Amino acid sequence: MKVRYFQRILSVILVITAILSLSMVGAFAKAPKKNGNYTVGVQMWNAEKNEPSMSNAFFKKTAKLRVKDGKLTMTLYANSKAIRQTLQGAYKIDMKVSNGKGGYTPVKVVARDSTGSPTAFQFTLPNTKKYVPVKLNPHVAAMGNSYVDARLKIDYSTVKPA
Ligand code: HEM
Repeated sequence: MKVRYFQRILSVILVITAILSLSMVGAFAKAPKKNGNYTVGVQMWNAEKNEPSMSNAFFKKTAKLRVKDGKLTMTLYANSKAIRQTLQGAYKIDMKVSNGKGGYTPVKVVARDSTGSPTAFQFTLPNTKKYVPVKLNPHVAAMGNSYVDARLKIDYSTVKPA
């Protein structure tokens, strides 16, 4: 009788521990609210299809996120080695990010490599959603030398203080 009682208490404790640890894993699944600098996992995703964009390999998978009074500023890094290999030499990439109201804002290039090619892009996130629409123009003839749609996929469960 005593053993059974003990087992019951033990299983209740186990369940509570499991629920608590699950909720702690999920604690960062949403965008951070506290002011500070963070890193976050990102991918470039296709605009319509549920799959990575052909440009996914051209961007680093960790971005920086700065939170200041509710404003989220992201710095996204180009995988310049992969782009230079594909585009053979220096490259140009223009990017725009959704303003969350149907429009797009041009992205600021905040770093360039020795060839003058952009390596870091900075912009304000329009919201804290998982997918943020972007437009990319890598000045490639096969892509019509114009902007094509993609989505930045932000995995807030990977947020870490930087
Ligand atoms: C020699 C290099 C490249 C070639 C030949 C190429 C070719 C293509 C072609 C044929 C398409 C499909 C047609 C279209 O949607 O317009 C496409 C789509 C696309 N390309 Fe490129 N591309 C190149 C480099 C790049 C680079 C460097 C980027 C961005 C950094 C990029 C971003 C995209 C995006 C976002 C799409 C839309 C479809 C998707 O997301 O998968 N491309 N590209």
